[in-house]
Amino acid sequence: MCGIVGYTGSKAAGEILIDGLKKLEYRGYDSAGLAMQAEHKLIINKAAGSVADLEKRIEGQFDHITVGIGHTRWATHGKPTDINAHPHCSCCEEFALVHNGIIENHQSLRNWLTEKGNHSFTSETDTEVLAHLVEEYYNGDLLAAVRQAVARVEGSYALVVITAHEPGRIVCARQDSPLVVGMGENENFIASDIPALLAYTRKIKVLEDGEFASVSAAEINIFDAHGNGIDKEMLEVSWDIEAAEKGGYDHFMLKEIMEQPAAVRETMRQRINFADKKVDLSEIELSYEEIAALEKIHIVACGTAYHAGLVGKTVLEKLTALPVEVDVASEFRYRDPLLGKNDLVIVISQSGETADTLAALRLARKQGLKVLAITNVVGSSVSREADLVLYTWAGPEIAVASTKAYLTQLVALYLLAVHFGTARGVLGENSITSLVEGLTTLPGHLAAILREEKTGKLRSYCEHLAKWDNAFFVGRNLDFPVAMEGALKLKEISYIHAEAYAAGELKHGPLALIVEGVPVIALVTQKSVIEKTLSNIQEVNARGGAVFAITSEGFDVVDDQVESVFHLPPVEEILAPVLSAVPTQLIAYYTALIRGSSIDKPRNLAKSVTVE
Ligand code: M6R
Repeated sequence: MCGIVGYTGSKAAGEILIDGLKKLEYRGYDSAGLAMQAEHKLIINKAAGSVADLEKRIEGQFDHITVGIGHTRWATHGKPTDINAHPHCSCCEEFALVHNGIIENHQSLRNWLTEKGNHSFTSETDTEVLAHLVEEYYNGDLLAAVRQAVARVEGSYALVVITAHEPGRIVCARQDSPLVVGMGENENFIASDIPALLAYTRKIKVLEDGEFASVSAAEINIFDAHGNGIDKEMLEVSWDIEAAEKGGYDHFMLKEIMEQPAAVRETMRQRINFADKKVDLSEIELSYEEIAALEKIHIVACGTAYHAGLVGKTVLEKLTALPVEVDVASEFRYRDPLLGKNDLVIVISQSGETADTLAALRLARKQGLKVLAITNVVGSSVSREADLVLYTWAGPEIAVASTKAYLTQLVALYLLAVHFGTARGVLGENSITSLVEGLTTLPGHLAAILREEKTGKLRSYCEHLAKWDNAFFVGRNLDFPVAMEGALKLKEISYIHAEAYAAGELKHGPLALIVEGVPVIALVTQKSVIEKTLSNIQEVNARGGAVFAITSEGFDVVDDQVESVFHLPPVEEILAPVLSAVPTQLIAYYTALIRGSSIDKPRNLAKSVTVE
């Protein structure tokens, strides 16, 4: 869960590496470092702290150096200290490397190297053994040494290595952690993620597991695990560089919330035939016969993506008449799930790199099941390993708190449900038409919600909420997973302990915690259970709780029962989760702002969780 960059060319490497690292700070930000290749020696600069601190330290000093590697870290093995920061070096500092992933057998390798008597270690990290292994195996060819070193390793790595002995050359290796090489004119780039490269090139080659690259200013050579050269396809990235920057907002999170109407529209574009009012998901290569033969769906994901899966369960069950189970990915493989041969597994992952989700995908495929991935990142591990992929077109999401990716995951699940429901003959013409019409109204409704929030209604409730250390989110039916997502968002960025309950559960325990003023956010968008939810709201009112309701236009009965209320535009209740999530995101955002917490990079969290 770290950011990696590399550069070899004729420009000042430090500037390019720092710029790339800034784009990757969402992958880790507890320490940062660079290794630069000077004449016959390596210069290492690394410390706990931000990339901006590193930039200040090296400013103007190394403009003559044109080759280097850089890293921004999220600690796994060893605390975030100067010594544990990457790059890590061999004893003689002739080899330096940056690494993302985990070396599971690092202790036995460390013992082996120590027993040889010519290696001494300085850090607590698992990574450092790699630098010593490369040194141990080096015999004039860095690529050969890296190949021998990683052959000893159990675990995951995106690895980028330089040596003082081979000027201009960078060697990379990949196993279970993303790594791309960017092509320039007489210069080449390496990064763990595409946004780091966009300012310099849009031509990239994605390394696959088990592959190696040897990169110089003039050429990129890619090899398989046996050392055979690979002629790899070059991809052209179409992302707009502006899309990877804040674009005038104070935080990426707010920018990404505001981008939701466009992200939702983009995810539906080319998948909805607006003239015929039909969903066209022919991009998923499953025949109607195959869809009709399905017996069950298993959705597996983590965090916010898991909450999208919970909404997806109700929607898919309603529209396809298939039973759906939803699992947290970190639990899935350890509970020996019963998977039938006619079942479909759907994994949902914004990054497409979440280790637990990837492991669930592999388990399902190993058992012979088809896996469909819903992901936001083209070329991600999940997208490459799944049998079928349905991309969310949300664009890069930088804030750790997921917003636009979540909404587009919901939309992808609705599209899938309509497609499957059609193929299985569960949905009649009228239902399909009305669902497609409803989906088509969503971008406009989202834009209306974002205009409405400018009235300040949400912000004034947040002034109250920000004074508390505990809060509740409640809802029934489809409102319940939205409540769960609202609670996750609030705790993630405001550090308020927030719990979500199915509203009917309050009286089975949590009601004991409701006293004068306790904030309770109630989702009330499901007509079929409105009376029931209102009774639960009265239970809270009777104990003095401060209820803020998020409800649909026309549900006026809610207004008199609560302290304040936010109205959503009218929409079929099955689609309401796409709209009701937005006020909960804004509640989290404004509350965090009032409390002065670090919104885009909450403490202890990272954007992409590539370790178990
Ligand atoms: O990249 P993924 O969708 O697989 O990530 C899953 C979770 O780590 C992620 O949704 C996390 O819960 C978010 N930070 C929540 O805002």
